[in-house]
Amino acid sequence: MQINPVKGTHDIYNEESKEYSLLINQASNIAERFNYVKMTTPILESTNLFVRSVGESSDIVNKEMYTFLDKGGRSLTLRPEVTAGIMRSIATNKLYANAELPLKYYYVGPCFRYERPQAGRYRQFHQFGIEAVGNPSAQLDAETISLGYLYLKSLKFSNVKVVINSLGDEETRINYRNALKQYFSQYIENMCEDCKRRFETNPLRILDCKVPEDNEIAKNAPKLSDFLSDNAREYFDRVLNLLKLFGVDNIVIDNSLVRGLDYYTGVVWEYHISSNDATDVGAIGGGGHYKNLLKEIGGPDLEGVGLAIGLERAHYLWSTLVKKEPVDNKLDFYIAPMGDNALEVGIKFATSLREKGYSVSIPYENKSLKSLLKSASKSNAKFAIIIGDEEINNDNYIIKDLSNGVQTNIKFNDIVGEQLNLNNEIIEKLNNK
Ligand code: HAM
Repeated sequence: MQINPVKGTHDIYNEESKEYSLLINQASNIAERFNYVKMTTPILESTNLFVRSVGESSDIVNKEMYTFLDKGGRSLTLRPEVTAGIMRSIATNKLYANAELPLKYYYVGPCFRYERPQAGRYRQFHQFGIEAVGNPSAQLDAETISLGYLYLKSLKFSNVKVVINSLGDEETRINYRNALKQYFSQYIENMCEDCKRRFETNPLRILDCKVPEDNEIAKNAPKLSDFLSDNAREYFDRVLNLLKLFGVDNIVIDNSLVRGLDYYTGVVWEYHISSNDATDVGAIGGGGHYKNLLKEIGGPDLEGVGLAIGLERAHYLWSTLVKKEPVDNKLDFYIAPMGDNALEVGIKFATSLREKGYSVSIPYENKSLKSLLKSASKSNAKFAIIIGDEEINNDNYIIKDLSNGVQTNIKFNDIVGEQLNLNNEIIEKLNNK
């Protein structure tokens, strides 16, 4: 009986796996350019962590979490996002003590949400994200937004758009919440059960309702922008101005953007890639400022800001819109030994080249020269090194450029000596990874 993958999950292999590696390496590279350091937190956390951070009024906590009791009767959850785990780690490991603030962490890893699988929506997906904690400022907010923008630009997307809004400060949110309650109170009786619950827990969430009739009602609800306090408006303007300095030049203000997690305060945003050539998979990423999250889960009173990019969505859009040719991660050398003596020399060559930092493949069985060269080109190697008894006796080996068939003669020590001693053309091809 064949066992199928779990609904909403997918395997990443072969060419696609190389493409994901490219997306992840580039993300890590950009995060490190902004002085973020990598953090890895557990995929399993106490359910309570997400209830208190992502929030009881969010769809994620209400409907989408993979929650179960372990054999010791503890309620555990497969993380639906990573921010909460990073905050938990900052709190439990007291990473803020004696540290230069802001703390800056980036992460890459799987997340789980029980959603209806569709284009760009999985039950297990991967996020790259960053969190900066302990230095609330418009400058840090703008820099964070620019990091995601720079990342997507560096992947050569031509139409990256930042959709942005401000949820304001405490004063803004109290006034707006009251206004929403007043507005929705006339309709709530006839709205969906989720909206009834949201009305009690967080009326802001009603604005996100996907039920068409409720959505119509929400369209005429009071606008958050009309409730922004002077301070919040000024802060938001500062972020918008700084974004220009940080090179973020495609910004759309959307007063209806509230985002699906409860911990946000202040500036929130999403990244979108628009193109007629690709299915609309929704936001490629998003983020925001969170004032109380760390405190809420038992940490110190430090504010933070962060973002996450969905790697499945980034990969789909990148492979549809940007990718022109296969990701080149060619094997540097294929060793082609003919016979047992040759195999011994071949293993020495392979070991020495691997020590020097090159990728090498060597067969595990005896083959004819023809079949060795066939394997070499099937392995996508740049060069084959041919070894036979005659080559050993004369200390005269053949290195063959598989892109054009050009052969060069080399000596044993050219490979196993301290330095690789090959002509410039070969070295150039090897280094052009
Ligand atoms: P989020 O908007 O819930 O934010 O998720 C970020 C990104 O993850 C989305 O824009 C999307 O690309 C991807 N994503 C979410 N759900 C799925 C899914 N079911 N299938 C495929 N991709 C998905 C957060 O998670 C926040 N933690 C971001 C953040 C970090 N805010 C502050 N710091």
